[in-house]
Amino acid sequence: MEKLISVEAVAATEAGAIAAARLMGRGDRMGADHAAVEAMRNAMEEAEISGTIVIGEGERDKAPMLFIGEQVGKPDAATSVDIAVDPLEGTNLVATGSPNATVVLAAAEPGGLMHAPDTYLRKLVVGPQVAGHVSINDPAAVIIKTIAERLGRAPFDITVVILDRERHTDLIEEVRATGARIKLISDGDLTAGISVAVSGTGVHAVMGTGGAPEGVLTAAALKCLGGEIQAQFRWRSDEERERARGMGVDVENVDRVYMTDDLAPGENVVFAATGVTDGELLRGVRFFGGGARTHSLLMSHSRGVVRFIDTVHMWDPQQPPRVRL
Ligand code: FBP
Repeated sequence: MEKLISVEAVAATEAGAIAAARLMGRGDRMGADHAAVEAMRNAMEEAEISGTIVIGEGERDKAPMLFIGEQVGKPDAATSVDIAVDPLEGTNLVATGSPNATVVLAAAEPGGLMHAPDTYLRKLVVGPQVAGHVSINDPAAVIIKTIAERLGRAPFDITVVILDRERHTDLIEEVRATGARIKLISDGDLTAGISVAVSGTGVHAVMGTGGAPEGVLTAAALKCLGGEIQAQFRWRSDEERERARGMGVDVENVDRVYMTDDLAPGENVVFAATGVTDGELLRGVRFFGGGARTHSLLMSHSRGVVRFIDTVHMWDPQQPPRVRL
């Protein structure tokens, strides 16, 4: 099952990234998002799977494609999967040509990914060496100290990524007081969360409140890479809370901490991401006459593989590119 999904997954993220990258720097975040959605949706049409979108562009009445509950692929295909997509993680990043925009897809056996409503999660993301040693309920000072100890460094050698939002004013102060370095990002806590689990990215934790769908996708990635996400729902309105209740979330228990396995319980989790703009983790799409080059991450939990895939797409037989290292 996973072999098949993997191929289809990365084909979809590559297609989405190429389409979105065409609109880089044009100031058109909606246009870039729409291009990615359409390209991914078309790629999925070709897929030999029977897929159900469990995290997508929103509710059926709000999104024309890749809406929650939409069936993709071939209805009578032998392999049924649940699919979570973020067709463009960082719409503003593409609109402004800023780093770290990615196209993301996770898939698992039915029931293998939490059906999270489009609301917020308060998140703590740490890498494999720190997983199991921190709690989102601890003060930032304790969390940073533990991360530093686990990584064999001083707190001022730790870098924490936080979304640059007013709601994080206190958190930023708390983290600053520990001496840790902070990277404030305008968007993209999903890509940052994956980076935490990859050595060499220079990112050691993500803290703060961001999108719930991004949280589930982060969990799917960490399931494959190691590392841990801990999260608590933070509703923005009663309507969001009620929608969550309808999706089976225990909304009375506001303190419940959802761990990686709660958000992505599947055994056959597959995760694919393709860079749109250059970032810490992935290179962005590069176009040349008659083709493009993409850089993707493709992982499978049960097979225990993490692949970085560098693909040259040749579209024009009249203009074959010279493939370069
Ligand atoms: P887009 O994909 O819509 O561009 O937003 C990405 C993002 O920055 C996520 O990475 C993050 O989880 C969320 O938006 C934060 O939401 P908000 O902008 O409402 O703080």
